Amino acid sequence: MESHVGHVRIFDTTLRDGEQAPGCTMTLEEKLEVARQLARLNVDIIEAGFPAASPGDWAAVHEIAREVGTADGPVIAALARANRDDIEKAWSAIQPAVKKRIHTFMSTSDIHLEHQFRKTRAEALAIIREMVTYARSLCEDVEFSPMDAGRSDPVFLREAVAVAVAAGATTLNIPDTVGYLTPDEYGAMIRDLYEHVPGIEACVLSTHCHDDLGVAVANSLAGVRNGARQVECTINGIGERAGNASLEEVVMAIHTRGQFYGVRTQINTRELARTSRLVSSFIGVPVPPNKAIVGANAFAHESGIHQDGVLKHRQTYEIMSAETVGLDGNELVLGKHSGRHAFRTKLHAMGVELESDEEFQHLFERFKDLCDRKKRVDDRDILALVTGELQHTPEIYKLDLVQYSSGLGMIPTATVRLIGPEGQVWINSDTGTGPVDAIYKAINRIVERPNELLEFSINAITEGLDAVAEVTVRIREQGGVAEDAAADMGASTSTATVLSGKRIAQQIFSGYGVHTDTIVAAAHAYMAALNKMLAARQERIKAEAVAYAAGYGTD
Ligand code: KIV
Ligand code: ZN
Repeated sequence: MESHVGHVRIFDTTLRDGEQAPGCTMTLEEKLEVARQLARLNVDIIEAGFPAASPGDWAAVHEIAREVGTADGPVIAALARANRDDIEKAWSAIQPAVKKRIHTFMSTSDIHLEHQFRKTRAEALAIIREMVTYARSLCEDVEFSPMDAGRSDPVFLREAVAVAVAAGATTLNIPDTVGYLTPDEYGAMIRDLYEHVPGIEACVLSTHCHDDLGVAVANSLAGVRNGARQVECTINGIGERAGNASLEEVVMAIHTRGQFYGVRTQINTRELARTSRLVSSFIGVPVPPNKAIVGANAFAHESGIHQDGVLKHRQTYEIMSAETVGLDGNELVLGKHSGRHAFRTKLHAMGVELESDEEFQHLFERFKDLCDRKKRVDDRDILALVTGELQHTPEIYKLDLVQYSSGLGMIPTATVRLIGPEGQVWINSDTGTGPVDAIYKAINRIVERPNELLEFSINAITEGLDAVAEVTVRIREQGGVAEDAAADMGASTSTATVLSGKRIAQQIFSGYGVHTDTIVAAAHAYMAALNKMLAARQERIKAEAVAYAAGYGTD
């Protein structure tokens, strides 16, 4: 443990534990974009996915390993249950990465062993020994997690961890899978393992806490206080049920109270706000305004007494600055007179990296468009614009025109014009219960992909009547998904369902739109979700072909 004193590794599992939560599905291109951003954030390890879950997951991990797993980039980890097939799939998926890690897990609580795995404790130990040894024969960096450690018998937990250490695990991750423990109990569990497991001093102890009782971050920090030198967490705390420990909260607690914790991370904290917004827009789950660190109100001072204090001396009511998390210069104004140079400088200062001149030109045009509608354009507007415009969802249908009329005593009516991939032009109109309903119906007449609107939310990015609206929608593909996949693959329905796994029927797609006209933002958001749904369908077929060609397996 000595060599790691002072440095806490940040292991981001947004793309695995986060993405596996219902409704948090991302396309391959979105996962790749999140992985690139996590590399900018400078996380130590990215858990890129669970390759055995589906060929699509395998392909995403493989692509992230290829593009982001460079020599100076993060370690790329893949999750595997403790069986040979999963471990081999994880290993083949992370091959292109320079720094690779296999993360394997097996439950150790009696309740899991008895009711889920139907194994005795002795059988569990044998599996851990055999599978950690096997993983280690392939990869020199192996992480083992005793799942449901929080509810495991402490003496058996020591034994299981000792077996994993002896079999060659290099990181021991201790999950509170169901978010049951208090910070005191979690910290004590880490300390107990640290003090009683032979050989653990040569390994890294890691925390993995779920937020069912709202204490995932507190538990993770208690783990650090008691010797853990890796924290597993997710952006915005997304994850199973109530989620995982939130990366930005853990990082800023350590950053702000470094002396107390006696450790530091290598995170580039100025990338936190942008990372949070990116993930939120991809999964279609808005960040609550009062969310610590990245919520819209996290640095806002509303009460008179607080404002008075902050104006006299910032630190009267601020323990960290907005600049530190990448939210600086909210008051910095760009406007219609700002030129290319000022805009480029601003993007650079905000850490926005563009891939091409075309991308810059497109963004600049949208920025000018925004300046025509809004007098003051600050960082929050620009961040929203960047996130909305640089979604890498293929534009299978491009929204070219939206026209609507609505009002008291009127029948809400909308006309839309869409452009197809080969330049085809479609125009259609409909009426609805309101302008958004009319627009969505008109779009549906053209796209003809039945779906269910699960969620529709509007948020004003800034204050003021000319504020930019951000709209997030979530849709679920309806009916015939497996049948369609079967037709696409030339297979029977049952084969297609088996090939693609259960995820095929459960996929939810989100779309994000920003505009000063809320109705237009809503139209963009819906088009983005629809395009994602259509792209995912094409991606599924491609990923399956690539994964199977690379020996993914036939089960
Ligand atoms: O919560 C959990 O136990 C997990 C393991 C797979 C590490 O996510
Ligand atoms: Zn978990």
